[in-house]
Amino acid sequence: MSNSKVAIITGGASGLGFAVAELLSSKSWRVHIFDLNEPNKATDCTYHKVDVDSWVSLSSSFNAVFKAEGRLDFVFANAGVMEKGRFYETHEASLPPPELEDMSIDVSLKGVIKTTYLAQHYFRANQHGGKDCVLVMTSSIAGIYPQSITPLYAAAKAGILNFMRSVAPIFYDENGVRTYAICPGSVRTNLLPKEAWDAYPQEYLTKMEKVTSTVESLVHGVSMSDSWGQKLENSTVGIAIEIFVDDVYFRKPPDPCNDGMSFILEHMSPVKKEDAGQRSA
Ligand SMILES: NC(=O)c1ccc[n+]([C@@H]2O[C@H](COP(=O)([O-])OP(=O)(O)OC[C@H]3O[C@@H](n4cnc5c(N)ncnc54)[C@H](O)[C@@H]3O)[C@@H](O)[C@H]2O)c1
Repeated sequence: MSNSKVAIITGGASGLGFAVAELLSSKSWRVHIFDLNEPNKATDCTYHKVDVDSWVSLSSSFNAVFKAEGRLDFVFANAGVMEKGRFYETHEASLPPPELEDMSIDVSLKGVIKTTYLAQHYFRANQHGGKDCVLVMTSSIAGIYPQSITPLYAAAKAGILNFMRSVAPIFYDENGVRTYAICPGSVRTNLLPKEAWDAYPQEYLTKMEKVTSTVESLVHGVSMSDSWGQKLENSTVGIAIEIFVDDVYFRKPPDPCNDGMSFILEHMSPVKKEDAGQRSA
């Protein structure tokens, strides 16, 4: 079994994933990058050609890493693609429109769900049964706020948030796995073409360093405060962290609409709220 901690990072060949991969690798982690494309910069991380949209590709690579390393400590479910932006196109009225072709739900939402399902399995396979393992999913500010120009991407990123909030208490309660989502603002990566980045107000670009340091704090379980003064303790899970420019904000689920809904949420959940890790922030 590897003496170093082991991470799998989907979409780790460029952008946010690569930056987190490099950070952990520089701190003696053994990092496995799962990506369709090879990193175009030199790295000590191990690259695996993986399509997160393919169960066979993703599951066989998880298995290969666990067999080789004998442990898995952190999974960053990060791969995502931007929507093509064709949802509102007008078509010949006398015919059905062509089928909507877009990978953003398949990669950005279903890929994260499949990655999470596999992370659960291999975290449990650790000698310690998952305790202190960490899962971070990459959502977006488009998962919090409506984004009319890319409604499928927005749906995928919003879907990640409620998926993460739903599984996090169970993962923590049953296996001690800490689960979070990050919701970065706009970070200059390969996600968009150069012209789109040049047109964006530069003072509102989110700093890559803020994203990597936030993920690192989650991985190490250090206490954090957000720019509203809320605290995030190691034992608090299921939190979405909005990252905008160089601020972070802990985003709780919506409050129950009334006492009846509070009762239902409290008593009908398979895991009682007080046991579920969602205690503060
Ligand atoms: N850059 C931003 O402004 C921003 C903001 C919020 C959220 N995000 C999210 O951050 C994540 C990373 O994006 P990024 O900005 O670093 O962009 P990026 O394009 O630099 O990186 C995305 C990586 O995912 C890989 N990828 C795409 N489809 C894949 C698949 N099917 N299987 C495996 N790998 C695949 C790409 O090859 C690429 O290396 C995405 O989920 C994105 O939606 C980005």
